[in-house]
Amino acid sequence: MTNTFSNYKLLEMLNKKRTILYLGIIFIIIIWLVNIKKRDAAQYQALNEALKQTRHQLKIQTDSYNVLKERFESICDKWKPNEPIVYAITPTYKRPVQRAELTRLSNTFRLVNNFHWIVVEDAESKSTLVANLLLKSHLNYTHLSIATPAEWKRQLKEPKWKKPRGVKQRNIALEWLRTERARKEHDGIVYFADDDNTYSVDLFDEIRVVKGVGVWPVGLVGGLLVEKPLTDINGKVIGWNSAWRPERPFPVDMAGFAINLNVLRKHPNAAFSWTVSRGFQESAILSQVVTLEQLEPLADNCTKVYVWHTRTEEPVLKAEEKLKNRGLRSDMNIEV
Ligand code: UGA
Ligand code: MN
Repeated sequence: MTNTFSNYKLLEMLNKKRTILYLGIIFIIIIWLVNIKKRDAAQYQALNEALKQTRHQLKIQTDSYNVLKERFESICDKWKPNEPIVYAITPTYKRPVQRAELTRLSNTFRLVNNFHWIVVEDAESKSTLVANLLLKSHLNYTHLSIATPAEWKRQLKEPKWKKPRGVKQRNIALEWLRTERARKEHDGIVYFADDDNTYSVDLFDEIRVVKGVGVWPVGLVGGLLVEKPLTDINGKVIGWNSAWRPERPFPVDMAGFAINLNVLRKHPNAAFSWTVSRGFQESAILSQVVTLEQLEPLADNCTKVYVWHTRTEEPVLKAEEKLKNRGLRSDMNIEV
């Protein structure tokens, strides 16, 4: 009986304690809820903002990762371990059609195996427009920049042909190749691919087999439908069909030849120059590295045209000028 009584007492005490505990918990929850309600709105706003920022950063990182991934996958797809690399050197300068020209080129180059694009801007520093384009190009590339000195830069209204173009830009690319691809194991062929020409994918299969200096026909240049090397029955170059300044040592356009890296390494000073007459840039470099007899005629013994010296018309932007006068522009926040 006494035992039952004390058990009852003990139970009552425990119940009391439990009730106190429950009340305590409820009290804490109430305090907590009240505190949440009272939580500083500014602090909540800051937390929310930080979360948004993180999400945004993550999205940028994911986007750049995806762009890189696509580019590397594309390069790997086009990688043939036993074939030499084609290095295409493209001088380029800021103008309304620049992005269109480079896009056209990059779309063609995407189809070429073992391709390395050396893009050299005629500018003090690299532009974001070109950098963005290259990032998304799916290509293996090197982005450089060097400005043409003021005295060699075309003046407003001065005819285009008065001054040579791309001299410094091609030379800095050659320098890059001679230092970064200095070793003999670096197999490659160098081609000067201006940004306004039109290139067939087939051209690059020809370039790839050049052992010394290769030549081929170029369409729409020098006042002719096609300017081409002439060959004899043994497949040797014996002359040219050029009509413009045919007395040039090598009357060929920049688009009509390619040079093996070995040749450039053997002639470490071979370069373009300001001092040569108009239209003699090609002859200037070729005379330093090769003779007529050594030239390798390609494109089916120079019977096929795989490259055209096209020129893009300058767009008329009268309405844009009017906008500019009012302090406005149509390309606000958009790359054209
Ligand atoms: C012809 C040849 O095809 C060129 O290879 C050669 O450089 C030029 O003549 C010359 O005599 O200097 P053309 O069509 O008249 O070419 O020249 P552009 O296409 O206007 O320029 C050749 C390259 O240099 C282009 O890739 C162009 O973007 C670049 N360039 C042009 C510059 O980097 N800066 C300039 O101020 C102008
Ligand atoms: Mn051109």
